[in-house]
Amino acid sequence: MTKTIKIFDTTLRDGEQSPGCSMNLKEKVEMAKQLEKMKVDIIEAGFAISSPGDFMSVKTIAETLKDCTVASLARTAEQDIDRAWEALSNAVSPRIHTFIATSPIHMEYKLRMTPDEVYERSVAMVKYAKKYCSDIEWSAEDATRSDPVFLAKIIEGVIKSGATTINLPDTVGYTTPDEYYDFLMKVQEFAPSMSKVILSSHCHNDLGLAVANSLAAIKAGAAQIECTVNGIGERAGNAAMEEIVMALNTRRDIHQAETRTVTNEIVRSSNLLSRITGVKVQPNKAIVGENAFAHESGIHQHGVMNNKETYEIMKPESVGLSKNNLVLGKHSGKHAFRDKVQQMGYNLSEEEIDGMFIKFKELADKKKQVYDRDIEALIAKASVQVPKTYSLEHFVINSGNTITPTAVIRMIRDGKPLEKVSRGDGPINASFNAIEKIVGTGLKLEDYQLQSVTEGNDALGDALVKISDSDGQIYAGRGLSTDVIEASIRAYINAVNKMIYEKTLKPNGINVKTDKETSN
Ligand code: KIV
Ligand code: ZN
Repeated sequence: MTKTIKIFDTTLRDGEQSPGCSMNLKEKVEMAKQLEKMKVDIIEAGFAISSPGDFMSVKTIAETLKDCTVASLARTAEQDIDRAWEALSNAVSPRIHTFIATSPIHMEYKLRMTPDEVYERSVAMVKYAKKYCSDIEWSAEDATRSDPVFLAKIIEGVIKSGATTINLPDTVGYTTPDEYYDFLMKVQEFAPSMSKVILSSHCHNDLGLAVANSLAAIKAGAAQIECTVNGIGERAGNAAMEEIVMALNTRRDIHQAETRTVTNEIVRSSNLLSRITGVKVQPNKAIVGENAFAHESGIHQHGVMNNKETYEIMKPESVGLSKNNLVLGKHSGKHAFRDKVQQMGYNLSEEEIDGMFIKFKELADKKKQVYDRDIEALIAKASVQVPKTYSLEHFVINSGNTITPTAVIRMIRDGKPLEKVSRGDGPINASFNAIEKIVGTGLKLEDYQLQSVTEGNDALGDALVKISDSDGQIYAGRGLSTDVIEASIRAYINAVNKMIYEKTLKPNGINVKTDKETSN
């Protein structure tokens, strides 16, 4: 019989903890909405006590989503659980996810607690959380390096206190599929109450085995898999959601398990995350890499032309890969544009359609052929827009191989024009220097990337700029234009606006992510 596996997405908690993957509130809400559209079952929206930013994300996501469970992480401590509940209390379906380490090395060197103390704390804190919420997940951090007999004892205790999901993570990515299977079977044998609750798996990818281990967990009876979009997460990341979902989908005959996930939203979710974080996936990444469905060799191409199944085990459309569809031109009207956007699966309000239509027209004026991917890039950018503290009025660039490149940039802030001139090693560098002069705070350029959204001489340039402020906090900005210098300038200004937006959300404008216990 086919089992249904719950997908617990922790992109916004475990994923967001990884370097270069931080997101602001708007971006997290946008990502959460996309995950809801994909019909994941549970979204871990953050670690409420770890920072005011995380608290706000959990609260806002809990109040926004209606069709999935929203969870907050909490240590097994009253103040953590109180804060998690404060953030979750308005959710349609809230879950408190409390965790403590159970391996000898973690108990001794990290927690400085004895096994008995870990047992007592777990049982007491699950009982404490239960007074707020019926849906309680308890996780044994570093479970795979823990003693199964000890684990079984705590599991029996926390289930008696009200835990409804028991998660046994491979926190350090150390186990192997066979070993994890045996371990989970053993724990279930020693803890008979496991049959009354949901067994969950949460695997890290240090040895590249996170997905294989998650599938082994399903074989051992796990009914919930914790994972992230694109496999982002601490160190080598978490199990990649798209790989698990498509492995179950494609090899249902072997796994006899399925998920509720709307698979043709996979590529859109992956692209949205990459766009927000500026972290691209490797071209050969399974399911969502640029080459995942490309056939380069002549023999393969020939086979696929005769019969797709010669080399394709999944249909590209099943993960939402659209062909490079030619869409509308500069003569297309709003009606046709609205139809196209709906066909692509977006549900925009009339006001949003109006805004996007203006952007589309501007683009169609500059670019002969507008593709689905161009429209997707425009929509994705607009969806995570922050207030425009600074906006670009105009720029003039003087560059060449016999002169020092110079940029004049004029921006508007609070209705006032601000203009600066600067030189640089090249036109982009000169432009960034001029913007820095206008903004006037010590900013450091951490990363700059430029790519085209589609092929062709008139392709839309998509620039990514990452800057850091004096606290070392990194902000990623994107800019789109058929002119690559303009795209770069817009990306820099977008990063500055994000920095200002985020600082206004944090008390005193400082980075308050200081008390976040390492949890991966
Ligand atoms: O990897 C891990 O053990 C975790 C727990 C906090 C669930 O992320
Ligand atoms: Zn983790």
